[in-house]
Amino acid sequence: MSEPADTSRLHVAGAAPYHVLIGTNLHAEVVGMLGDSVQRVAFLYAADLGELAQPLLEALVAEYDVLALGLPEGEQAKSAAIAADCWDALGESGFTRSDAVVTFGGGATTDLGGFVAATWLRGVRVVHVPTTLLGMVDAAVGGKTGINTGAGKNLVGSFHEPAGVVCDLATLATLPRPELVSGMGEVIKCGFIADPEILTLVEKDPEAALDPAGPVLRELVERSIQVKIDVVTADLKETVATTDSAGWPGREVLNYGHTMAHAIERAESYSMRHGDAVAIGCVFVAELARLAGRLDDATADRHAATFGSVGLPTGYAGASYDDLHAGMKVDKKARGNTLRFVVLDGLAEPAILAGPSDELLRAAYDAMVGRA
Ligand code: GLY
Repeated sequence: MSEPADTSRLHVAGAAPYHVLIGTNLHAEVVGMLGDSVQRVAFLYAADLGELAQPLLEALVAEYDVLALGLPEGEQAKSAAIAADCWDALGESGFTRSDAVVTFGGGATTDLGGFVAATWLRGVRVVHVPTTLLGMVDAAVGGKTGINTGAGKNLVGSFHEPAGVVCDLATLATLPRPELVSGMGEVIKCGFIADPEILTLVEKDPEAALDPAGPVLRELVERSIQVKIDVVTADLKETVATTDSAGWPGREVLNYGHTMAHAIERAESYSMRHGDAVAIGCVFVAELARLAGRLDDATADRHAATFGSVGLPTGYAGASYDDLHAGMKVDKKARGNTLRFVVLDGLAEPAILAGPSDELLRAAYDAMVGRA
């Protein structure tokens, strides 16, 4: 069956290669990706998207025995209790290794659904259908799955690559504008770490970049997903990580801006949108790199200008230096007591900065507070 004419197909190479489809009216493609051997499909969807999920659900019901499981909104879905509910439901329905999971929702749905697929019978097929900009350009590609625990976000999880990803751009038109703007945090991040054409597109016309039905946002989605594909193809399991400041940071590069972002999210009890925190974190780390003598003024200044152009925050004054420092120390990139940051040595030249002095960190913090 051929896909609709306006569909883009990106290839993810690796031990289990798969495709990411980007376009509209792609329900039939989800069925195609599941393959012939599947009898039962667990459809794990964000319950608040019930109506939006209906056409895909109907397409699945026409082909398979479908177990539809509505999940709580956002991060609330990512708990051990919800995962256990899903395992119970799969067990009751006699779900076998040749059956499959389809997720439909934002990044949290993808993370939880991927985790359930990764763990049931030690791994069944999963196709992700992300419905948010953040989910499309980050969570759905690359196989990271996870749940949260009392100790923090995403501390329990596994790598489990999907059998396919389907990005239906029509769902972006249903997103509240703050959600779309937040997703742009990860898009612009991709521009700084790997594809400066993303920055040019955003800067040229920030409103066009936020038009869910327009060609600019589509190009931004495609370019950002390609950045992610290139990174995960080179370092799927984040093993390239190096303390050599001259080396490419591997998959950790995707965490550009995230060390401070995660600390801010923690200080805000996870009430701040992830992409908003990433924007602040990227501006912070650009300042840190500038102060460390590694990043030129023009590229450092471009951070606040570009993130700010779409309405993303670029400063934060809601927590003390000590609180944020403590939050950064539990970052997964930290080694012992040494903080490690992905920084830029120039546009699209990412590297690691390990163990910056307290003086540098405080100066970058002061600059962040000054922009709030
Ligand atoms: N979200 C970062 C990663 O997939 O590695």
